[in-house]
Amino acid sequence: MCGIVGYIGKRPATDILLDGLRRLEYRGYDSAGMAVVHDGDIRTAKSVGRVANLAQAVGQSRPSGTVGIAHTRWATHGVPSDENAHPHVDCQGGIAVVHNGIIENWETLRRGLESRGHVFRSQTDTEVLAHLIEEYASRLTLKDALAAALKDVIGTFGLALVSAAEPRRIYVARRGSPIVLGLGPKGDEFYVASDPSALVAYTRDVVYLDDDELAVLSDVGVETTTLDLVHREKPITKIDWTMEEIERGRFPHFMAKEIFEQPAVAANVVRGRLDAAGGRAVLGGLASVDERLRKIERITIIGCGSAAHAGLVGEYMIEEYAEVPVEVQLASEYRYRRTVLDPEKEAVVAVSQSGETADTLGALREAKARGALTLGIVNAVGSTVARETDAGVFIHAGPEIAVASTKAFLGQVIAFSLLSLHLGRQRRMSAQVGERLVAELHALPQKIEKILQQDAKIRALARKYSGYGGMLYLGRRYNAPVAAEGALKLKEIAYVHAEGYAAGEMKHGPIALLDRSFPVVALATKDGVYAKMRSNLEEVRARQAPILAVVSEGDEEVLRLADDVIAVPRTIEMLSPILNVIPLQLFAYHMAVARGLDPDKPRNLAKSVTVE
Ligand code: AGP
Repeated sequence: MCGIVGYIGKRPATDILLDGLRRLEYRGYDSAGMAVVHDGDIRTAKSVGRVANLAQAVGQSRPSGTVGIAHTRWATHGVPSDENAHPHVDCQGGIAVVHNGIIENWETLRRGLESRGHVFRSQTDTEVLAHLIEEYASRLTLKDALAAALKDVIGTFGLALVSAAEPRRIYVARRGSPIVLGLGPKGDEFYVASDPSALVAYTRDVVYLDDDELAVLSDVGVETTTLDLVHREKPITKIDWTMEEIERGRFPHFMAKEIFEQPAVAANVVRGRLDAAGGRAVLGGLASVDERLRKIERITIIGCGSAAHAGLVGEYMIEEYAEVPVEVQLASEYRYRRTVLDPEKEAVVAVSQSGETADTLGALREAKARGALTLGIVNAVGSTVARETDAGVFIHAGPEIAVASTKAFLGQVIAFSLLSLHLGRQRRMSAQVGERLVAELHALPQKIEKILQQDAKIRALARKYSGYGGMLYLGRRYNAPVAAEGALKLKEIAYVHAEGYAAGEMKHGPIALLDRSFPVVALATKDGVYAKMRSNLEEVRARQAPILAVVSEGDEEVLRLADDVIAVPRTIEMLSPILNVIPLQLFAYHMAVARGLDPDKPRNLAKSVTVE
């Protein structure tokens, strides 16, 4: 999620903008920039890396203008670079825009603008806004031009704009990405930000914009309208949070915040990538290798930790829906194996949230050295894995701050479902099956919301089970990797030993662990192996081990066998890992809290393991 800050008043804007960006640093970003209106023109400064780099860049020629906007970028389109950092300007450099969100139809808009002579400087979707507004402003007022341009946009935006032609104005608009306005206590300074944490040093009186609303900030105040420019009265809210609370929003930890962001992540991963009519995935990031993908006869997936678990789910998906043989290999092992690889027929998929994991990078370079087609399923745009793979699918999960991966794992699994759909429809998957998958993907956000509503119940269960020294997580087929992922969460943040096992393996050893002191967490939702899971639970019950089961809504049978159940909505088996993992994330999170631990800072762990 990018950060936006803007100021209009009587003080120099630069320091206020830099201070606001520093307060947004916790959100994670890869570059920053600002635009200040100064002596009738717009002075911009941009830099890759931390806000300190931008401060240094600005230091040499600090504009004294008292109107400005600034931005920290979490790249979604275009690698982190000075050119791609915001603000973006129009051809004449008279309009500067900062933007948070995704413009789905940016390529179409850009092609049209280029055909009419507009010259672009970056690879971002945002720059399209600056040129589109410029074009409309040649025949409309700036406010009308902004409203007209946003009517052409498909996607989400939280944006702020300044113009040399209207030096005492900041224009703001919102659809899908947060925007808050700050009202200076003396009524002569006004602010805009993507998050209240950038404003609390200056004011606690704020106005939250809602979707499809626009605002104009001037020296005398804030005017708010709809995108159709119809006046809209907005209430003033008093912020009474502490800075610490603001940075995590209403959540006590980033991990909780990121678990609760998952409905939005499920929507963002597929946004602009599903063709419902054709039952297809539209993956622009694979276009350059599409013909090679048609000929692929074997796929190897490499990753570590949660990324490897996502790969294991992807293995089932691709084999079932695209009928391409898949092998998942831990990156730390792959790179030291004498792998046999036919570069004409094999693709290697590197999965990584950070895109900087040393083992995954090492394995990727091995695969490239052998000539394989390499794809990335990555969150961090511009990361090394993203840059070194031939093509890929970004998961658009936004920065994942907590060390334990939750929303990125979910995004990776959904990205694999898109890849499976794409590969399947290149092969023998019917349009009908594709349409069903598209419909189920669209239904995910509200199903995830429904599970999150059970947070209090799952917190109580975590407390109930918090005294146990070890647990066995069991699942079959698509949910065997979910068992492993759930066990990993418990290990890494609650420090409780947990094993994730394919349930069929239980009788080949782990069942010896089971007695009243060793609970089983079972993924027993209705699917093709439900009857087998139920038999496994009978075996567990016969050993008096407590059972906590994730079940499908309405399932009465497992209710008889389990001590506790968490019900999740039905979906197709292929997507069940996306729903089933959420109770396990919450269970581990609340277990850590119940044990007096900090889920955001687990001992011995780093967010990105950039060493071998
Ligand atoms: C997941 O909760 C862990 N923090 C860890 O296993 C992580 O998934 C692994 O290190 C891979 O990281 P990456 O996705 O950034 O490559």
